[in-house]
Amino acid sequence: MQLMDKLTGLCKRRGFVFPNADIYSGLAGFWDYGPLGVELARNIEAFWWDYMVRRRDNVVGLDSACIGPEAVWVASGHVGAFNDALIDDKNSKERFRIDQLQYQSEDDAEKAEVFTLQWLGENQSLSGQEAETAFWDALKGHIGYYPNNPNTGKPSRFTVPRQFNLMFKQQIGATGEGAQTGYLRAETCQPIFVDFESTRIGSRSKVPFGIAQIGKAFRNEINPRNFLFRAREFTQMEMEFFVRPDEVASQTGDKSTMDWYDYWLEQRMSYYKALRVPDHRLKIAPHPPEKLAHYAKAACDIQFEFPFGWGELEGVHHRGDYDLRQHQQHSGKNLSYYDDEAEAALVASGMDKAEARKLATYLPVCIETSVGQGRTFLALLAAAYDEDLQETQHEGKEADVRIVLRFHPRIAPVKAAVFPLSKKLSGEGSASYALYRELIDAGLTAEFDDAGSIGKRYRRQDEIGTPWCITYDFESETDSAVTIRDRDSLAQDRVAINDVPDLLLSKLRSA
Ligand code: GAP
Repeated sequence: MQLMDKLTGLCKRRGFVFPNADIYSGLAGFWDYGPLGVELARNIEAFWWDYMVRRRDNVVGLDSACIGPEAVWVASGHVGAFNDALIDDKNSKERFRIDQLQYQSEDDAEKAEVFTLQWLGENQSLSGQEAETAFWDALKGHIGYYPNNPNTGKPSRFTVPRQFNLMFKQQIGATGEGAQTGYLRAETCQPIFVDFESTRIGSRSKVPFGIAQIGKAFRNEINPRNFLFRAREFTQMEMEFFVRPDEVASQTGDKSTMDWYDYWLEQRMSYYKALRVPDHRLKIAPHPPEKLAHYAKAACDIQFEFPFGWGELEGVHHRGDYDLRQHQQHSGKNLSYYDDEAEAALVASGMDKAEARKLATYLPVCIETSVGQGRTFLALLAAAYDEDLQETQHEGKEADVRIVLRFHPRIAPVKAAVFPLSKKLSGEGSASYALYRELIDAGLTAEFDDAGSIGKRYRRQDEIGTPWCITYDFESETDSAVTIRDRDSLAQDRVAINDVPDLLLSKLRSA
């Protein structure tokens, strides 16, 4: 069985994630998180927030509305240009994004995507058969061959690509004159730029500083696929870090904007290390110059080796001052920042005061880190998934597969499970149940399981990634101690009941 099928099967069986509106045959690209999925997703978000916001004194948080007026999305360029090139296979009636056809390499797929959007912009006067022939011949000229249908691996008859806008358009208010057009946000960063002034002033932040947001984003993807990897509704975790432009930084001896870009890329790689994502499953893929937005100085993907191959997990982008400039121009509000410290440094270095004031009043340059919670969820599941035979063999039973999710303990949806060995040691008035409640009171997500053999109970916890299982046995009644079994080492330690909550909290802190 393919790993992807195993993961989606496990997610559905154990209530991590299942298709939205499943009893109505579902809605492609929309997913619902069940009880364990919610815990895992929240832990991922909490880990990110802790790493990117809470532990830093120069990054603040924001939680903006999911919907925004048309003007915002016109200014950001999404209404005009957030397009994918869509084609239909005339034989099979399937629909694909141009880069989803079968190419000889990922590189060619990217080249085809960039080429197509450019070609469509330059050849709007062509239509019908003429456009079709011209386009496919031009694409062949560009990459050296015609791409195939990805499902059959064979050539087919494709339509000329059409541009398809990925924004979800909304009508806000009653129909008629009062109704207003709005859009579900396609990325969480735009409201950060729009709220730049209010957030900066409210938090008394000084450049360099960042604004972070975790929230839903919506894209009407042509072909949602690969489970949570490409969804139509997904959660983004984005941080926009505002720094001095190079013309100021070079004179004040501050880090250049590219230094900041390198810094954040390194921080994001350290974050994945802290999450215990194996190094060999991550790589940095810089965007080639032809793929860079015209305003961007640099950009890269942090790619992960998903079960279906390497794919973008996160983007780190040098966005220049493009977004603030656009919103300044379209809103008519001055978004420039007066940097009194830079001005003082410039004057101290001998610059004329008026000139220093002018240079120190600028639109900050933005370095962005942007990652999907769903892609992280899928990546962590794939990295954590393991099967072994060790325990069943040890117990002398027929060897079958133990599924275990080796999550970082802070990410694991359930931290500890308490097992009374016998029903006689169970029940709400029992000491085992009291221990379970104590763990909950200590802030740990815990389960109480008194059904089936201990082996089966271990299995249930292993396959959801619970790091610690605690068995309360008959001896516990006299020695006031329990056995804690570690998910990964399978080591079993006898520990005084009273010490268990603090011990687990300290293991969690040091994990
Ligand atoms: N603000 C920049 C931005 O949105 P992006 O590369 O379009 O850049 C950033 O998206 C991240 O959001 C991606 O690296 C990915 O983790 C996530 N993402 C984008 N589209 C997605 C989709 N359709 N489904 C799930 N996650 C998605």
